[in-house]
Amino acid sequence: MVKVQGSSLQGRVALVTGGSSGIGRATALLLAQQGAQVFVGDRESLPENEALYAEWNIQQLACDIRVEQQVEEFVQQAAQQGRIDILVNNAGITRDNLMMRMKEDEWNAVLDTNLTAVFRICKLVIRGMMKRRHGRIINISSVVGTTGNPGQVNYCAAKAGLVGFSKSLAKEVAARGITVNCVAPGFIDTDMTKSLTDDQKQAIYANIPAERLGQPEEVASAVVFLASKGAAYITGETIHVNGGMAMV
Ligand code: NAI
Repeated sequence: MVKVQGSSLQGRVALVTGGSSGIGRATALLLAQQGAQVFVGDRESLPENEALYAEWNIQQLACDIRVEQQVEEFVQQAAQQGRIDILVNNAGITRDNLMMRMKEDEWNAVLDTNLTAVFRICKLVIRGMMKRRHGRIINISSVVGTTGNPGQVNYCAAKAGLVGFSKSLAKEVAARGITVNCVAPGFIDTDMTKSLTDDQKQAIYANIPAERLGQPEEVASAVVFLASKGAAYITGETIHVNGGMAMV
């Protein structure tokens, strides 16, 4: 009988992209609270995180995931610990516009940040994981990657792309003890959703059985579960965290 082990991440080294705010910050914190040594890469380091990250020994590094050299340096610094066990590809942006008006640079910025950068960083990390026969890759997709959303052809294409990417990579590396999964949040209370008006929020609540926005910590807990030993036999999967908004 297989003994399913607990959720402690003691001794694990974790990388979180876009970890200065929202879901990334909550994930970095929860990983650290489970015992992982956490490296956060973001294009901006927010001063208000300094005390909290120092308390949990979380290293903040400047890294724009669209800039190859910065990503290489970020991965190298974390790898100095001897290994990278957990990679959370969380950094993401929106550049919304209706298809008729969408400019190619809005398309390119979103595809480059939300999808191509994930390919690049996975390529840098996967070899070490394969050698050590252990790894956890968790990609932050979105509910709209499954349902579609008007005004977001770029974002939805990238987020749906992440699901296909994750399933394919999962099949390539499963025999080496590496899992690759997605977490797909619904509407979460972060900077990304701050610009919603009260009217827009009310309209959104009408479609969410839980009748509220999700909190970043509620997404982080799904990420930490997928990073844990107890999730070793889950791969190529997408966990939806959306208060019942889309049951897929
Ligand atoms: P956020 O805007 O609070 O955080 C995104 C972080 O990514 C920021 O700290 C930002 O500086 C960083 N970032 C953006 N571009 C970057 C780059 N080129 N290099 C390095 N860092 C970069 O947003 P939130 O909500 O925490 O989003 C996190 C992830 O969750 C994103 O991938 C987003 O698409 C996804 N998501 C969010 C939802 C929501 O309702 N908030 C819903 C579904 C998915």
